[in-house]
Amino acid sequence: MNELVWINGDVSPLADAKVGVEDRGYQFADGVYEVIRLYDGRPFTLREHLERLEKSSAGIRMALPMSVAALSAEILQFVTRTKVRDGMIYLQATRGCSARNHVFPKNCPPTVLFYARHLSPLPAPGEGPGARLHTVPDERWKRCWVKSIALLANVLAKNEAVEAGADEAVFVEDDPKLGRIVSECSASNLFVVKGGRVVTAPVGPKVLPGITRLVLAQVAKQSGVEFVERPVRLDEALAADEVFITSTTREISWVGTWDGKTVGNGRCGPVTLRLHQALRERIPSETSSLVGAA
Ligand code: PDD
Repeated sequence: MNELVWINGDVSPLADAKVGVEDRGYQFADGVYEVIRLYDGRPFTLREHLERLEKSSAGIRMALPMSVAALSAEILQFVTRTKVRDGMIYLQATRGCSARNHVFPKNCPPTVLFYARHLSPLPAPGEGPGARLHTVPDERWKRCWVKSIALLANVLAKNEAVEAGADEAVFVEDDPKLGRIVSECSASNLFVVKGGRVVTAPVGPKVLPGITRLVLAQVAKQSGVEFVERPVRLDEALAADEVFITSTTREISWVGTWDGKTVGNGRCGPVTLRLHQALRERIPSETSSLVGAA
């Protein structure tokens, strides 16, 4: 495959690359990450991803060793060296390598790395099988707006979903006033459509500010679709006309079943389809710019 990885400025074959055993990412999950889509060799919404990386990094009190503009330039240069045209960039920044100690190390440069990987093309909007959701209790921490590499709760949830014959886990919590509310999924944001209006939980302690979610809010506005951010109850979600989930790797997946029950009429709904088409149309305009160069 000859995959390459960029680690703190050095590019080497991914298969040969090494990071220290005492890297804090490895020992404490002390780091943050991004997954950025590549379309035809160009990163999609790179600026938004790098700005979120900066926020996540600030959220764990870690200063990135380089600016968004410098990191963007490195990524774009790297992309020209890889053979990956359609796929993703995995980008990770940890608090660096230092003798194991819970206390933050002093004078320890973060370990920043990224590599590109091919992804199979996604089905056209509305095509492909509907995603199958499975409800799980939310056992994650309360800073889910940080895109932390500490993903064990997500990993366990996703595997529980897969073992139940589903594709994605939906996190559910009990709210003292509202009852059971849904936040997001193990690796995607969640949206319900009722009466033509899109409703999703607000970003915050239990919801990542997804970049696809951000673009979706913009295309909804442009398409004249009302986009509402408020807590979503499980019972209303299960009774929605349409449900869909979004992420960098999925774009938009329409949901076919939830806990084994058919959602809506069991097909991709018209609002989901329209928004997915509108999102696809945004790709050419969001895939070229050198961050900071504008
Ligand atoms: N995950 N919520 C969670 C918990 C996620 O892990 C992700 C993405 C999203 C969607 O965010 P975005 O639209 O920026 O991809 C929401 C990535 C793809 C992953 O961990 O592989």
